[in-house]
Amino acid sequence: MNSTRIPTRKTSIAAGLAATGAALAMVATSAPAAHAIIGGTEVPNDAYPFMTAVLDKGPGSALDRQFCGASLVTPDTVVTAAHCLVDDEGKPVKPKTLQVAVGRTVLSSRQGQVRDIAKGGVVVHPRYLKGQEAYDVAFLQLKKPVRGISPVALPTQGTDALIRPGQKATVAGWGNTDTELPHTPDRLRQVRVPILSHAECRTSYEGYDAKVNFCAGVETKDSCQGDSGGPIFRKVPGREAPILIGVVSYGDGCGAQGAPGVYTSLSSSKLWKTLDESPSGKKIKRAMNRR
Ligand code: ARG
Repeated sequence: MNSTRIPTRKTSIAAGLAATGAALAMVATSAPAAHAIIGGTEVPNDAYPFMTAVLDKGPGSALDRQFCGASLVTPDTVVTAAHCLVDDEGKPVKPKTLQVAVGRTVLSSRQGQVRDIAKGGVVVHPRYLKGQEAYDVAFLQLKKPVRGISPVALPTQGTDALIRPGQKATVAGWGNTDTELPHTPDRLRQVRVPILSHAECRTSYEGYDAKVNFCAGVETKDSCQGDSGGPIFRKVPGREAPILIGVVSYGDGCGAQGAPGVYTSLSSSKLWKTLDESPSGKKIKRAMNRR
């Protein structure tokens, strides 16, 4: 399961899957179907303005620089996965190495607003430990707020109404669309996935922590490498704007039977309470509560 948590810069996905791909090419006669995220569909432009791509800063197309997803939660803060933002030793990466594109749908386009990250603006959850699964959440503080893009709503802390087993949620990302070969799409994709009970989820994952995680997905419908950090959200009746219930964290393979995707739960009171354990986390929480 460890290998599924390696930060999924495009290059490393390609390298990781190259061996599988080579082996597969000998048996597969036809090209794999262009699936989704896994089992999903394309997202039309501007459907999810809060959707954010996390990029390696540098020249070239965002299509080659995107390695994780994220969501706008205040005009100058995005939420993503901790494992997207730590190096091999588990230390947060330097803000200068990153950029985000907020409100983009097609990676290679100029849609949305690109921002650099503020000094000290990479804030990893203080309880996140590399090699463990829980508390996989982090925040990026933007150097300059975005203008005219509405942040996504968050669930009420300490509640679970939006993660009831059987309910369906939408997960979106530019991650791999194939379970065997690296296929990374230019246009954002989405898939509807059912939420599982904690008990069910525990049977699939040893490191599962019901206090801060939930599971969603079913065979052939899942998030995958490159979707990490991105949003899983729900639309509720009588309300136009979606609510961000979680962040893509990990999974054993993608879309496999009995191996749902695991998400960091943004309604978890423990997740928010313990964010206070670092000074930078405390600052983020204050900014969030002021929004
Ligand atoms: N850890 C992966 C990433 O870095 C996301 C994995 C999600 N996997 C899943 N089966 N839902 O992109």
